[in-house]
Amino acid sequence: MSLELTDVTLTYPDGDARLTALDAVSLTVPAGRVTAVVGPSGSGKSSLLAVAATLIRPDRGRVVIDGTDTAGLGRGELTTLRRSTIGTVFQQPNLLPSLTAVEQLQVMAHLDGRSPRTARSRAQELLAAVGLTEQADRRPHQLSGGQRQRVNIARALMNEPAVLLVDEPTSALDHERGAAVLGLLTDLTHQRGTATVLVTHDRSHLASVDAVAEVQDGRLTSGAGAGV
Ligand SMILES: Nc1ncnc2c1ncn2[C@@H]1O[C@H](COP(=O)(O)OP(=O)(O)OP(=O)(O)O)[C@@H](O)[C@H]1O
Ligand SMILES: [Mg+2]
Repeated sequence: MSLELTDVTLTYPDGDARLTALDAVSLTVPAGRVTAVVGPSGSGKSSLLAVAATLIRPDRGRVVIDGTDTAGLGRGELTTLRRSTIGTVFQQPNLLPSLTAVEQLQVMAHLDGRSPRTARSRAQELLAAVGLTEQADRRPHQLSGGQRQRVNIARALMNEPAVLLVDEPTSALDHERGAAVLGLLTDLTHQRGTATVLVTHDRSHLASVDAVAEVQDGRLTSGAGAGV
């Protein structure tokens, strides 16, 4: 499983004109590797993840996931692909207010048609891995920002995604907890052969990733597939 973006250009409406968020970006993320994406605020990092997650169709270019060109897929097929193959952790953890931590994870397995019994034990395992065993039965408003972020990460891992897209996973965590979460992500990536993209501001993370891509003004300036 790998993720391949080729010559991706994405624009947003901006008054009468268009704002170019991604400008001919090519990036290959091989299986079993963590590729970090770094760059200033507003440079296009989250846009890159949204395109890779097939949530936004680019104006131009290709997004190929495990050999499948996603341009050829309809809405329903994309939804299925996202559920079964892509794990996403966005900057804002969009947890469901009425569900406890362990239920947030279980619902993912349910959506993917997996058995409820194995789902619960897997959910508990993942919460333990992010240090939230004690908080399994709390709802989002009973959790700290960093704990919510960790539920978000555990949830993304629930369906054993082949492609994992993570946006600033440690911004609300202290250094020690942030390092632990990063360790979890890199270990899982290497063990399971996941193609992982990690957007981060924290330069200390770069030592433990496999490749670094730098984005500036929507362009890839160095790293995997930059062609420089
Ligand atoms: N929905 C949108 N409509 C219009 N412009 C947008 C939209 N989303 C993002 N942008 C613009 O696109 C550019 C890239 O935004 P993006 O969110 O990808 O940046 P980022 O690198 O993730 O920044 P940050 O580090 O602050 O999260 C910015 O100039 C932003 O203002
Ligand atoms: Mg962003």
